[in-house]
Amino acid sequence: MSLAEKLSLYAEDYWDFSEYRNETALVRYPAVMVAPMQECIIKEIIAADNTIDCILDPFIGSGTVLNEGKKLGLNVIGFDINPLATLIAKTQLEGIPQHGIHDSINALNTRLIMSVGNVSAHNFFNIKKWFNEDIILSLSVIRHAIMGESDKRIRNFFWCCFAETVKRYSNTRTSTFKLHAKEASQIIATVDDSIDFFTNHIRQQYKKNICNDIITDGKINVVCGDAKQLLSAIEDNSIDLICTSPPYGDNHTTVTYGQFSILPLLWIDNKDLSVWDERLLGNFSAIDTASLGGAIKRDRENSNKYANYLIGISPSKQKKVIAFLEDYESVFRNLARILKPGKLMVLTLGNRRVDNQEVRFDRFNDDLAEKVGLELDSTITRNISGKRMPKKVSAVKNIGSVNSMSKEYVKVYRKVDVNG
Ligand SMILES: C[S@@+](CC[C@H](N)C(=O)[O-])C[C@H]1O[C@@H](n2cnc3c(N)ncnc32)[C@H](O)[C@@H]1O
Repeated sequence: MSLAEKLSLYAEDYWDFSEYRNETALVRYPAVMVAPMQECIIKEIIAADNTIDCILDPFIGSGTVLNEGKKLGLNVIGFDINPLATLIAKTQLEGIPQHGIHDSINALNTRLIMSVGNVSAHNFFNIKKWFNEDIILSLSVIRHAIMGESDKRIRNFFWCCFAETVKRYSNTRTSTFKLHAKEASQIIATVDDSIDFFTNHIRQQYKKNICNDIITDGKINVVCGDAKQLLSAIEDNSIDLICTSPPYGDNHTTVTYGQFSILPLLWIDNKDLSVWDERLLGNFSAIDTASLGGAIKRDRENSNKYANYLIGISPSKQKKVIAFLEDYESVFRNLARILKPGKLMVLTLGNRRVDNQEVRFDRFNDDLAEKVGLELDSTITRNISGKRMPKKVSAVKNIGSVNSMSKEYVKVYRKVDVNG
């Protein structure tokens, strides 16, 4: 039975996973994929092809695909431009050593007690805009206590719990992924119990999700960097399976992965972050600018090439869409190049709206696939419910705020085997 036939046996609403909530997230990252859905698809693929040894995700985010791949015994390779994403993914993939963790937590608690009042305040640009002074002192204590941990995997786990703490006690709103200061009255009312929150979070997270120090034989290769560059270093026809959820080009508007991550990143010790370019932490939007479609370059010559996907979008907004499509095309071509003939590329994606027009990213992927020698094997359509996405996107002139995407597509492409 073909993969398409197998996938079609599932009831249509099976893929909605409407009851699914990601309750065990170590750090709540934007636009996280539905883990059981990826698990199911990868399982079906490897059940049908026992020669698959490795899985590549060029945009790992918090690492959902690689986690599922690893659980199923595959070697995993993943990239992300955002150092917070690679920290979270690595921490989960590598697990934390069972042996030693209790002693480390006890020692951390002791250092926390000893450090109160004895640590100088951490500092970075505009820190006082984003954190109250008492909270800066408490977070500095936590930071110092974590730096005293000698085991790198345990330290990474502590940094992840710290990232959640930093987000929670910052002055930025939780209703958006963008940095947007809360009302002054809310900021004044913030109570500093950040050290208690942090220690509780460690206890819960340890119990919930990383208590199994799962050691598999699979290799883990997670790199922080630009997929455009990293993919070009991979050999032709060398990857068994590609599975990812690409960014959709709204990293400057609604799903600002970089702005979401920058405050924790400015608190975490640089030595424990794989910052591949120091400029990334130089301002609050540098990561989003370095991300796919973040930098607007040669727009004019390409507007015709992408005209089909720009209908109804005003010229000023077209530029951003073009920049994204252009970057994305270069990544897609590389993915097709490195995939082994006959093997599969699985993309979970959605169509965002620009100027209240749907950008047919699903169609764009189908068109690109055809151009580079991939054939569409199957498409799964699912209704999005639990995904951590803003329900509304910013206001559009004369219309007010508009709904963001409500459907997601899983596109399965197979690389044509010219010899097969
Ligand atoms: C949709 S998210 C992936 C979500 C992920 N699948 C999950 O479940 O958490 C897309 C990711 O692409 C990353 N990204 C954007 N541009 C990139 C680039 N040029 N190279 C590598 N990663 C990039 C973003 O930082 C973001 O984490």
